Amino acid sequence: MILVTGGAGYVGSHLVMALLEAGKDVIVFDSLELGHIEIIDILKKYGNLKFVQGNLKNLDDIRGVFLVNKIEAVVHFAAYSQVAESVQNPQKYYYNNVYGTLNLLNAMLEFGVNKIVFSSTAATYGEPVYTPIDENHPQNPINPYGNSKLMVERIMDDYDKAYGLKSVRLRYFNVAGADSKSRIGEWHNPETHLIPNVLKATPDKKFKMFGTDYGTKDGTCVRDYINVEDLAVAHIKALEYLQNGGDTNYINLGTNEGNSVKEVFAACEEVKGVSIPLEICSRRAGDPATLVADNKKAKEVLNWIPQKDLTDCIETAYQWEKVLKRSSK
Ligand SMILES: NC(=O)c1ccc[n+]([C@@H]2O[C@H](COP(=O)([O-])OP(=O)(O)OC[C@H]3O[C@@H](n4cnc5c(N)ncnc54)[C@H](O)[C@@H]3O)[C@@H](O)[C@H]2O)c1
Repeated sequence: MILVTGGAGYVGSHLVMALLEAGKDVIVFDSLELGHIEIIDILKKYGNLKFVQGNLKNLDDIRGVFLVNKIEAVVHFAAYSQVAESVQNPQKYYYNNVYGTLNLLNAMLEFGVNKIVFSSTAATYGEPVYTPIDENHPQNPINPYGNSKLMVERIMDDYDKAYGLKSVRLRYFNVAGADSKSRIGEWHNPETHLIPNVLKATPDKKFKMFGTDYGTKDGTCVRDYINVEDLAVAHIKALEYLQNGGDTNYINLGTNEGNSVKEVFAACEEVKGVSIPLEICSRRAGDPATLVADNKKAKEVLNWIPQKDLTDCIETAYQWEKVLKRSSK
């Protein structure tokens, strides 16, 4: 059985769908603080899925899962991930993302489970020194969220050296899109990600474009949008890598290509077939001009190549927005 922490959330639920469709037995552990029971109910239709509501901050909650289930490997998504909130309330981030992960790792050690795939982030690199960013780029996070993820990466290195716990840290760039059959999708509240916010804009709540004077192709920030279904495939390959005896590793997940905010905005208008209300604003603090992944290592180590492009991301996100709106969730 594969244990997926945070599997009721956005990225985790897409991995759970992919695992179930591949015939794997899955157990999701989630506090439902940010995830949704409705998503679990949908996922249950596609295979053998067990759900446990619990919080990683409570060691007994997660120990209980290992006590009564035979876990082969863990995929660990459960975390808080809003950069601005982490700056205002670092305690919340270190307690959840670092202490919560320590409880998970300690339960794994206690029950002899030694394989984990971890959701790390491009935010561990901080301000880019060069681009595209490869895995050897210095890791100097510029906010508590990025720090919390880097701390976990370091803890995982030490747990490998001391206890033989093998990890693959997947450093995602900007995750986007939804299930291609519109069964599940991104459902954050508040939503901080670009594509859903452009798609949701109304004349009363215009889309705010922050900064048009960066030194990029059209003056707006450039990011690497990686499709959530492609990401799920990468996680399955990372699990297989560990199950085949692969050593601890850290790998970027991105497309090697950057799209500007203006390009994303135009592509959203194209997909919706209407003009989207827009407000140009000044730069926000802490947004680097360009963040693009060098993804060669993912191909070399995992034989993973992303298949979907920005239009796939926007089209599936738009279909999912319609599903959410219809059910007024
Ligand atoms: N979405 C992105 O673009 C992106 C980019 C880089 C990294 N990541 C990382 O990927 C992971 C998933 O991101 P997401 O967008 O799906 O987030 P999400 O908020 O949709 O999902 C996180 C899930 O974890 C659960 N959770 C949080 N803390 C918990 C705890 N202590 N115990 C049990 N459950 C807990 C939440 O209820 C939620 O269901 C996170 O670790 C995030 O840092 C995401």
